[in-house]
Amino acid sequence: MSPTELRPTYPITTERLLLRPLTEADAEALLAYRSRPDVCRYVPFEPMTPEVITERLATHWATTALTDEGQSLTLGIEVAATGQLAGDVILFWHSRQHRGGEIGYVLHPDHAGQGYATEAAQAMLKLGFEDLGLHRIIGRIDERNEPSARVLRRLGLRQEARLVHNELFKGEWSTEIDFAMLSEEYFAKYPGSPQSA
Ligand SMILES: CC(C)(COP(=O)(O)OP(=O)(O)OC[C@H]1O[C@@H](n2cnc3c(N)ncnc32)[C@H](O)[C@@H]1OP(=O)(O)O)[C@@H](O)C(=O)NCCC(=O)NCCS
Repeated sequence: MSPTELRPTYPITTERLLLRPLTEADAEALLAYRSRPDVCRYVPFEPMTPEVITERLATHWATTALTDEGQSLTLGIEVAATGQLAGDVILFWHSRQHRGGEIGYVLHPDHAGQGYATEAAQAMLKLGFEDLGLHRIIGRIDERNEPSARVLRRLGLRQEARLVHNELFKGEWSTEIDFAMLSEEYFAKYPGSPQSA
């Protein structure tokens, strides 16, 4: 199957969460965690200002569908029980030909330690493998980001590579760990999905 496009119906519901596009009404909640240096330590962006949040909401984060490679879909992670924005999660579509994608996630520390990032990222794997027909989804992290490594392992991604000091990241050399999951691994791990045995 070749991926064509991804047009989810929102909100996407999981056991405890609603995943849905971000809006201007989320600006304050986004700033509360995306402006924090501790949250941004291992992510490829600097602590954000209100102006950057406003600009992102009008551009990258306004995407609600993936229509071609090179695009990414960022969704807010809303706690269903309270309506609070706990964080956000992203699915990149890297290649149409190779059916490749990537996931990422950011949580407000107040909402950490409850499994929300894993639950939201699992829903993004579902979108990527089941709805977009991807063949392979990766996760790339700094080796020191142990909570993120645990998220990827819990999801079922395998560690494939350790790239020693391969990037000068925020003023110091970063060792990158690359994780990956193939579609057959996804359908084996998550029974109940349409193509699982
Ligand atoms: C990476 C990040 C999202 C991980 O957050 P997290 O809260 O550890 O991950 P989850 O939300 O999936 O929660 C998992 C933890 O909750 C625990 N937990 C508690 N109750 C749970 C429940 N009901 N269900 C599932 N897990 C639960 C799990 O045991 C796990 O703890 P452990 O990793 O110590 O074993 C977070 O550290 C973060 O936002 N960091 C900054 C941004 C960042 O670095 N992003 C990744 C870039 S590569």
